[in-house]
Amino acid sequence: MSEGDPARPVVVVAHRGPVSFVDVDGDREMRRGAGGLVTALRGLRGYLEDGVWVCAALSDADRAAVADSGDKPFEVDGGYRVRMVALDPDEHHRFYAIIANPILWFIQHYLWDLSNAPDITGNEIEAFEHGYVPINRAIGEAAAEEVERAGGRALVMIHDYHFYLVGPEIRRRCPDALVHHFIHIPWPQPDAWRVLPGWMRRRLIEGLLACDIVAFHTERFARNFVLTCRELLDLRVDMDSLTVDVGDRTVAARWYPISIDAADLEEQASGQEVDLEERRIENGRREFLILRVDRTDLSKNILRGFKAFDQLLDDHPELSGRVSFLALLQPSRQDVDEYVEYVERIRRLVADINLKHGNPEWQPISLQMGDALPRAMAAYRQYDVLVVNSVFDGMNLVAKEGVLLNRRNGVLVLSEHTGVHEELGAFALTVHPFDIQALADAMYAAIAMPQDERRTRLNACAAVVRGNDLAKWLRVQLDDLAVVEAGRAELNRSEVRSP
Ligand code: F6P
Repeated sequence: MSEGDPARPVVVVAHRGPVSFVDVDGDREMRRGAGGLVTALRGLRGYLEDGVWVCAALSDADRAAVADSGDKPFEVDGGYRVRMVALDPDEHHRFYAIIANPILWFIQHYLWDLSNAPDITGNEIEAFEHGYVPINRAIGEAAAEEVERAGGRALVMIHDYHFYLVGPEIRRRCPDALVHHFIHIPWPQPDAWRVLPGWMRRRLIEGLLACDIVAFHTERFARNFVLTCRELLDLRVDMDSLTVDVGDRTVAARWYPISIDAADLEEQASGQEVDLEERRIENGRREFLILRVDRTDLSKNILRGFKAFDQLLDDHPELSGRVSFLALLQPSRQDVDEYVEYVERIRRLVADINLKHGNPEWQPISLQMGDALPRAMAAYRQYDVLVVNSVFDGMNLVAKEGVLLNRRNGVLVLSEHTGVHEELGAFALTVHPFDIQALADAMYAAIAMPQDERRTRLNACAAVVRGNDLAKWLRVQLDDLAVVEAGRAELNRSEVRSP
């Protein structure tokens, strides 16, 4: 493998696939897969010529497509192959709705209210043993088959918290594979993992240690991972090179801030549908537009965002009728109780604030639920203030998309606990996500900021995003993997480079 060019065939493993199927009037149609990660990983297409993307079959139509393809990979547009794996629906429910979301997601974003939750009962243990474990095994077996089909020497790129146990499956069956695991959400400090019984957390972390590189979006997350290995597994680590010794192997923790495909996003945003949506927003907007675009995820801190807006209107009555808050929210994980309750709380709070401050001509908050990409892109163009106030966030691509498309010198108000803050924090208004008054003040400061300063900040953000684009994200990882491969017999720690 030479730098930036994987001579090994690539096997991508991610829960969601690059395509999904839907039944339309009895016909099966292939659609582009949903979600930020899928969008980002589509950048791997160019590397998948001899490779394959392994993912879960998530709908009935997906499962029917798997049955028709006889469990073999099928070609999709763009000339690469996808191997969907049909999974037992009950096992998948336990895996997704009990273990991956919420347990792992909540631990890794520090979301648990520990005096109340989580309860680890027989239900959770069963969900782990008869959900997370078998789903990881099934996906791992499918991925290992693809590695074997490619001659055993593939580069396996596993993604996210769904598949912490896939690495060992690959390592066991395909010892010559190069295994890389990218975790797109925060890795918390070691004690956060003590919520899980010792045997369970050990199994998850040891699963990751079957890989050659474990990757994150920020150095802090990589550091937390190495500390976790030292404190919870008592392993020998090197905090300078961020490596962990596991028997006769060395595992490297690395960080690579993910990005967006700027050219692709700009092309998508150039369509007529986006122009139409923009005109609608323009016609309905007030003097100032505050925007947020999010999945209804607890980590996104949507309630405190609205509370801060309420505070802004209390503090600045002169803004009444002159500012509106557009919230484009995509319902997420509605098979998980906490997420269902969260959506209800969002709706209630918005109704309260609109009742308190609104009048027949002006509703301060426009809450729009759904998945409307053209509208989101139009709103990105139109915002004066983009609010990204996540409690914790691995990266947050909304911030990157917004600054690239905005046309009004909009100001980014950004939580210091997002991965993207490392790149854009210097040009944004930084907020502490729990400080509601500070968020209200930042919204005001953004609105009141002179146009010149707004322009300078926006241009600087957009330049960072263009400079650190998706191609660079991939290239740096492949370079590091080439170094790992070259030093396989004796890993040269100093040469495993960070970006
Ligand atoms: O990395 C976080 C992630 O898994 C991304 O793929 C995506 O943005 C989000 O969470 C979607 O979650 P889900 O697949 O549960 O809808």
